[in-house]
Amino acid sequence: MDNFTFYNPARIHFGKGQIAELANEIPANQRVLITYGSGSIKRNGVLDEVKSALAEHQVFEFGGIEANPHYETLLSALDIIKAENIDFLLAVGGGSVIDGTKFLAAAAKYTGDSWGIIESRGATVKDALPMGCVLTLAATGSEMNNCSVITKQSTQDKLFFFNDLVIPRFSILDPATNFSLPRRQSANGVVDAFVHIVEQYVTYPVDAKVQDAIAEGLLKVLITEGPKILDNPEDYNARANIMWSATMALNGILRVGVPGDWASHMIGQEITALHGLDHAQTLAVMLPAVWKYKKQDKLDKLVQYAANVWGISGNDHSDIADRAIAATQTFFEQMGVPTRLADYGLDEAIIPEILVKLEEHSHVGLGERGDIGLADAEQILRLAK
Ligand code: NZQ
Ligand code: ZN
Repeated sequence: MDNFTFYNPARIHFGKGQIAELANEIPANQRVLITYGSGSIKRNGVLDEVKSALAEHQVFEFGGIEANPHYETLLSALDIIKAENIDFLLAVGGGSVIDGTKFLAAAAKYTGDSWGIIESRGATVKDALPMGCVLTLAATGSEMNNCSVITKQSTQDKLFFFNDLVIPRFSILDPATNFSLPRRQSANGVVDAFVHIVEQYVTYPVDAKVQDAIAEGLLKVLITEGPKILDNPEDYNARANIMWSATMALNGILRVGVPGDWASHMIGQEITALHGLDHAQTLAVMLPAVWKYKKQDKLDKLVQYAANVWGISGNDHSDIADRAIAATQTFFEQMGVPTRLADYGLDEAIIPEILVKLEEHSHVGLGERGDIGLADAEQILRLAK
């Protein structure tokens, strides 16, 4: 196991009725900006619940943060934060609302052009407004991490930044808020969480038994519980297990002391920015392709994954790895998330522009060994046809 430092100060309130905790979490004298997306929280009653918990607070609202949040939209919210002297940001929504709000938390205290936050990948952030979350979509893990992914619509740049100052002070995870999710978003959430786990697990062995055991356990939870929410969206226990798995998948606990891959995420981000696929759809396409291309380098962990997650055994390691990759692909398809570019109406014609963007963003040494260059990315994209 590699050396590590672990820090995660986010307080989690998990379960039914926990939105009421907002009253205790945010001091009553604070001016609170509630941020949200395109209106799902109005339709499912979550906004009303939030407002009644904050009845004693001075509350402002900013709606309209889109999926894959746009920098341009967030600048309008920044104007409100400054004009109204907002003290506290409360994100109510999925990963996009939370990520957008993390950007706002940093931008509110930033001097100079706030795109510099993204250009520096968060390194220039020295202060941030406090923020909290009410999570309505189990998927990204943003509710308990220091990462945010923002899209500049004008240039089709989708980029992340990291800074511990934007880790939410608290996050409220009530699985019942997920009952109203469209099937596609429920499925996306399971696939995103699944891929977060394997990005940190299917690399090369470093004898990290704790991280491996947690990863394998979480993957098995997603495999058994995922299909249940497609059949019965109001299965509270399945929602609860998926929600906590998704948070655990990317709150840092799996990342410490092990290598991380993230090539599927980096290439996938460019596909979303240029062609609008959902984040998880890009992962369902890219992950099997990355694994096929890197099968030899990942062989030890693919064989371990095959045995401990899927119960696949045998003598021929190459064949075991192939079967594990196929099982993964079948699981994504079973969740209703197609795994080929062609399923989304895309073909090889998209490859050159993706390579241009990867180079522009300096994403040219990807993977756990930093050895996936542009020529490799091209081959991987061909495998994703
Ligand atoms: O806009 P609203 O009305 O909120 O509707 C949303 C949106 O249309 C809807 N939704 C959310 N909760 C709902 C609901 N509809 C009905 N009932 C509910 N309870 O779902 C749609 C998608 O929401 P979005 O927030 O975009 O989805 P997700 O949580 O999957 O977030 C995706 C974003 O997170 C980034 C992705 O790149 C993408 O931009 N990621 C963030 C990460 C992080 N911060 O650590 C890591 C991830 O790898 C990922 O990159
Ligand atoms: Zn992801």
